[in-house]
Amino acid sequence: MKFHILTLFPEMIMQGLNTSIIGRAVEKNILSINAVDIRDYTLDKHGKVDDYPYGGGAGMLMQAQPVYDAWKAVTGVSSMSSMVTADHEKGLGAPEQVSRKIRTIYVTPQGSTFDQKMAAELAKEEELVFLCGHYEGIDERVLEEVVTDYISIGDYVLTGGELPAMVMIDAISRLVPGVLNNSVSAETESFHNDLLEYPQYSRPEEWHGKKVPKVLMSGNHSKITEWRLEQSKERTAKRRPDLYKKYQHKMQVVKRLAKNKRSNIHIMENLSRGKGEVLFAEGDNVLVYDKECKMAMLTVKDREMGERLLELVPEEVQLFIASQAFMNDAICSRFDFEVFHECYQSCSTQRELHTVKYKDIRTLDLDSVPYLAEHYEHETEGYLRERVSAGVMFGAYADERIVGFVGIHNDGSTGLLYVEEAYRREGIGLSLVAYCMNRQKEWGYIPYGHTFVENQKSLALQEKMGLYVAKDTIWWLQKRPQKQE
Ligand code: ADE
Repeated sequence: MKFHILTLFPEMIMQGLNTSIIGRAVEKNILSINAVDIRDYTLDKHGKVDDYPYGGGAGMLMQAQPVYDAWKAVTGVSSMSSMVTADHEKGLGAPEQVSRKIRTIYVTPQGSTFDQKMAAELAKEEELVFLCGHYEGIDERVLEEVVTDYISIGDYVLTGGELPAMVMIDAISRLVPGVLNNSVSAETESFHNDLLEYPQYSRPEEWHGKKVPKVLMSGNHSKITEWRLEQSKERTAKRRPDLYKKYQHKMQVVKRLAKNKRSNIHIMENLSRGKGEVLFAEGDNVLVYDKECKMAMLTVKDREMGERLLELVPEEVQLFIASQAFMNDAICSRFDFEVFHECYQSCSTQRELHTVKYKDIRTLDLDSVPYLAEHYEHETEGYLRERVSAGVMFGAYADERIVGFVGIHNDGSTGLLYVEEAYRREGIGLSLVAYCMNRQKEWGYIPYGHTFVENQKSLALQEKMGLYVAKDTIWWLQKRPQKQE
């Protein structure tokens, strides 16, 4: 991930971000921090970058020219690119005259408030530009031309945009694959699923007469997960009642969906793992949108209601899971989608862990990515790397090398299964799926998966594992591939 920071104080950025975890990630070339001095781009012979505001008022404004030229230099955009903002907002993609489309964030108290979800979304970009204002702000005309996102770090005013930019860069960076050693923590920590993190304890077992809670010494992962969830809830209710209300609302929807658990498991799990947001929930009509996956999930009683709900789905949507086939036509015509596949859903609702016969299964690290990319042609290398970084890819080893793997997709479903030809028919696939599902049970999830209706082999494997298969199928729909000009 490359960060370009347009600023009048580049040394402040370099000093602030070149240490500790971020500094190490820069050294490893996982991140790059490019602080650009806006003053270097002024055409004023005295190096001036500010002037008085027209109409009067306190203080000085940063002028358009140096900001624009600094931005042009880092983005490589041609000088006629004035459409970039408007088109990005409309989701139409970059206009022809723009050579590279890079999100440009103006850090300002007048923006939307930065949060963990935004950090996760921005962490998916390959490059970001941060524009830091000073004095009383920046000439509006250049903002109109270059800025794609206006973001604030809170309702207070600082003297400049450098500290907010650094705050955001820190929060985004730790979500970039490879920056943290243990990326799973990013999926369980504060603000994941609208709950604050549970209390943590380390040695000694007793300190100032206070003992570490017994359950944490039990070695029983399910019990520990249950205890942590309860603690998280209690803490959130007490310290952040606003967040807790949001969590409770989501859980009420999950409870309602649980009346038909096998058929609704994908929506339930997506919500309870803190991924999607409820866009609509009334009776049997539920629409959930997962911003990270750009995926909508819809279950409705009738087509008329379904069509009304489609109007709530963001235009950027790339994937749809429809629980009723009667919605397929409407989705396809509304979003220029096509039906990708009809699938069975299966889930493992029992608390007991599955038997894992094959013993050498390990959580994969980034070194495994080339192997995964070579053997799994259905997904991109970038996606596989992101899944490995999330700590949710598991490999079967033989003679100290990977011979098969399984994982959890970003929507929450179990999949990504592969076993080398020479190692098939030995039960390794079964063990991999069982192992992956067991890990999810330990994390407090209900493991589930989607299988193409004609994939009899996979369905037989699921039956063997004792998974529950829903009677109703679901439909995966996706954006029609855009024609190359
Ligand atoms: N610049 C000054 N104050 C700010 C804030 N609260 N957030 C983002 N940028 C700022």
